[in-house]
Parts: sequence; C-alpha cells; structure tokens
Amino acid sequence: MKILFAASEAQPLVKTGGLADVVGALPRALAALGHDVKVLLPAYPGVLDRLRTRTMHSNLTDLFGGPAKVEAGRTDTGLDVLAIDAPHLYAKQSAHPYGPSASVDWEDNHLRFAALGWVASAIGRGTAGAWVPDIVHAHDWQAGLAPAYLALAEEMRPRTIITVHNLAFQGLFDRKHLAKLRLPESAFAVEGVEFHGQIGFLKAALHYADHITTVSPTYAREIQTPEFGAGLDGLLRHRSGQLDGILNGIDRDEWNPERDRYLPAMYGAHSLAKKAHNKAVLQEALGLAVEPRAPLFCVISRLSHQKGLDLLLTALPALRAAGAQLAVLGSGDAELTVGFSAAAKAAPTRVAFRSGWDESLSHRFQGGSDFIVVPSRFEPCGLTQLCGLRYGTVPVVARVGGLADTVIDANEAALADGVATGFQFAPQSTDALQNALLRAVAVYARSDAWLQMQGRAMSRNFGWERSALRYVALYEGLLARR
Ligand code: ADP
Ligand code: GLC
Repeated sequence: MKILFAASEAQPLVKTGGLADVVGALPRALAALGHDVKVLLPAYPGVLDRLRTRTMHSNLTDLFGGPAKVEAGRTDTGLDVLAIDAPHLYAKQSAHPYGPSASVDWEDNHLRFAALGWVASAIGRGTAGAWVPDIVHAHDWQAGLAPAYLALAEEMRPRTIITVHNLAFQGLFDRKHLAKLRLPESAFAVEGVEFHGQIGFLKAALHYADHITTVSPTYAREIQTPEFGAGLDGLLRHRSGQLDGILNGIDRDEWNPERDRYLPAMYGAHSLAKKAHNKAVLQEALGLAVEPRAPLFCVISRLSHQKGLDLLLTALPALRAAGAQLAVLGSGDAELTVGFSAAAKAAPTRVAFRSGWDESLSHRFQGGSDFIVVPSRFEPCGLTQLCGLRYGTVPVVARVGGLADTVIDANEAALADGVATGFQFAPQSTDALQNALLRAVAVYARSDAWLQMQGRAMSRNFGWERSALRYVALYEGLLARR
C-alpha cells in the first residue's frame, strides 16, 4: 500500500511532544512491513537542510497566497519525507512550529495548517506529483482539513483516517476565514466543519474522515463521555463504529538503554549496577545528594494542566518526608515553573528542576532515575511511561487513558504473582497520588520485590510492531470497502 501521513511534527525534524515521536516512528514500522509511506510536513526553517537525497516532488502555483514546492527527502533515521516549501507560510524564525514562543500562536495558523491539509488532498487526488497514495492518514487538528478537502472534492479519492493524539487541541478559527480556506459555504454546518459558530479543523476531520483512531483503547472510550469529550463526545459516540484505540509504541532504536549514547553507562536488565552508576552521575549533575538508596523520582513533561503536576507539587512534602528525591525536566506554564523552581530552591539536595527542552537530559533522566511520575488528568497514550518501563524506571501513573492501558499496578495480587510493572492511582487527587508514591517507596525498600518489578517492567515490549499490524489491518479494511 501507498500511505501518506500528514502531520505538523516528526522526530527528528521538529518536536514539541509525543506526536513527533509517533510520526517519526510508525511510518518506519509500516515500511518494515513492506509498505510505501511518506510523511508530509511543513518545511519550517532548517527542515530542508536536514533531509538527504532531496528531489523535487511537485510544484503548486498558489498555496494560500504564494507559490510552493514539495520536496522529497529522507532523514538520517530513514523516514521518507515530503516537505512543503512555502516561505510565505513557514519561513518564520522561531524554535517553535506554532508561534514565536511555545505559548503564543502565529496569526496565520489557519492558513499555515489549512495548507498542510490542502497539499495532502492534492497529493491524494493525484494533482501534485506522480506518487498517489491509497490512504491519507492525518494527525491531529493541524492536518484535520485533509479529510475534509478530499471528501468535499467528491472525486475518486484515497481512504482517509484521522488520528486524535489530543482532543484538547482542536484548531478553532473564525468563520470569516471560510472562503479563504477554500471551504464552501455549505460545509459550514453541524454536518461539516462548524463547531459552536467557529471553523473546527479537528471537528472537520472527525466528521469527514472514513475512520477515526486514537492512541489507546481507554482514551477511545473516555472521549465518548462528556467528562473527556471536550464537546465532541456526541459526534464521537455517533461515529463509535468507526473509532478505534490503537496503542502507541516507542522507537526501540532511539529508546534503548543498551545503546543509548546519552547515558554515562549503557545497561540492560542483567547489568543494573550500571543504572546505579547513571543515578549517581545524575544526582551529582543536578546537585542532589548522591545517595544510592534514596529513591529518585523523575518527571519529563510539558508543564500543562493536562499533566496534573500541580498534584505532585502538593504531594512533594510527603514524598520528601519518605526520604525520596525528585528531579523535574519540563517547560510550559509559568505557575508550575515558579512552583518547581521554589521547591528546588528550598531543598536543593532533594529536589532539582531543569526548565526547558533538553533531549539529552531526558535520556539521562530515564537512565538514572528509579521512578517516573505521570499524574495526568487525561492522557491519550503517554510515551514517557513506556520509555520508563524499558529503562527500568518504574512508572507511577494516573489511571487514565493510555497510562491505564500500559502499566500494571502493584496491588497485592500483582505483586504476589510477580506481574506488577508500576503504580496506578485514582481518582485524580493529591491523596491518591501521595498514596501511590508512598507505596512505590515501600516496594523500593524491599530489594527482592523491587528488582523483580524492575525486571518485569524492562521485559515488556512496547515496540511498534504489533500496533503497525493493526494499522495495516485497518487500512486494508478501508480499501476493501471502497
Ligand atoms: P505529550 O505528547 O502529551 O507531551 P507524551 O508522553 O506522549 O506527551 O510525549 C512527550 C515526549 O516529549 C516524550 O518523547 C518526552 O520524552 C518528550 N519531552 C517532554 N518534555 C520534554 C523536555 N522538557 N525535554 C525533552 N523532551 C521532552
Ligand atoms: C499527545 C498526547 C499523548 C500521546 C501523544 C502521541 O500529545 O498528549 O498522550 O502519547 O500525543 O500520540
């Protein structure tokens, strides 16, 4: 099959979160199964320079206000990319793909990402280049108009899929842009792109795509309820027959403790003494007391309301009283930044906070910590707990979304049977989190139970192979019904 991914991020070219990890890895897993997959992505500054074997794929004379080229190329990791070179839309100097800073959006984002959908639809219809996909697979709101443009064109068209990585980001824009976005007046309807008086890019995809997926079975159920549905639960219930939850994997080359070049010492399940060395180096680098027996909890996260880290701040005194240390790497909300900075300042040998984005440090956190905490209010899949499992960095997670689907809670039965891989808590409250953190500290103190749990965690296989097969089955099913 020929499959076109349309997305706004892909590792290793541009990343603000797990979307990039998925778009950077799943196409390669599909290619390994014999499929021809290309990832369509805006050529933000620097993207073209990082592609090898560049060739011209197609030209567009007018892409929402200027000419554009689509260039084909390949990343060092072996990802086949089609980059939309449209300087009038994407040549903005910023380290962030969506705005001048992480918290501010560019004013023309409706055009910048409608263009992504438009080019995907042109490639899908065979009007932009000779390579024509059987499947157009769009990701999140930024690519949400691709299924809409294709459905509205009413020609022979590829089958379309939208994957929801996060329902909280919907891409809502003023209806006055309708004509500029090349959407007919008739599409501005409940059975169309309209969402509470605005144009909704994600809403459009949920209406027009042939199939909807999200990134875990539990989140697929949750988003059909008012509590997690962000106003779209009605539509999702209506489409529940075409909605699946397929778990994400992790890139097992990028996240492999036995070959991780960022780590002071590479290690595996049978050489955990080297993980202890990584812990000491990390404690030292962060200014924490170098205590081998103090349980070290870490966080690697966007600092946003979704991630529930305010609960962790509140639970911190209890965690410290139990003799544990905490290391946080994250960027985002000012309030959480202030909170974690203050906690680190008050007890620099027990709590460390590194603000910002740091790929290398994220690996060293996984390689050197004992636990990773993910107390999210909602979590479509979550990837840091999966990396944590692979690195023997035991997850402590809220029982929601993909966190519920990937971590086996250390309740008495699971401990007795030796199947526990982490700690879950519910409901989403400080008390429940605190309780899970203290349970974790208690197991850590029992070295036989702890080592068994760590080994069990490391033996779990969260590579992409199984999920890639599920996507293939889904694509084949859609093509068979054409
Ligand atoms: P989300 O996509 O909601 O942010 P995920 O857990 O799916 O959450 O993915 C987050 C990804 O971003 C992981 O690969 C994680 O390691 C990475 N990450 C998050 N914060 C940082 C940071 N401050 N520095 C480096 N990597 C980070
Ligand atoms: C989103 C979600 C996260 C998921 C990622 C990749 O950013 O918040 O849970 O793992 O997408 O699908």
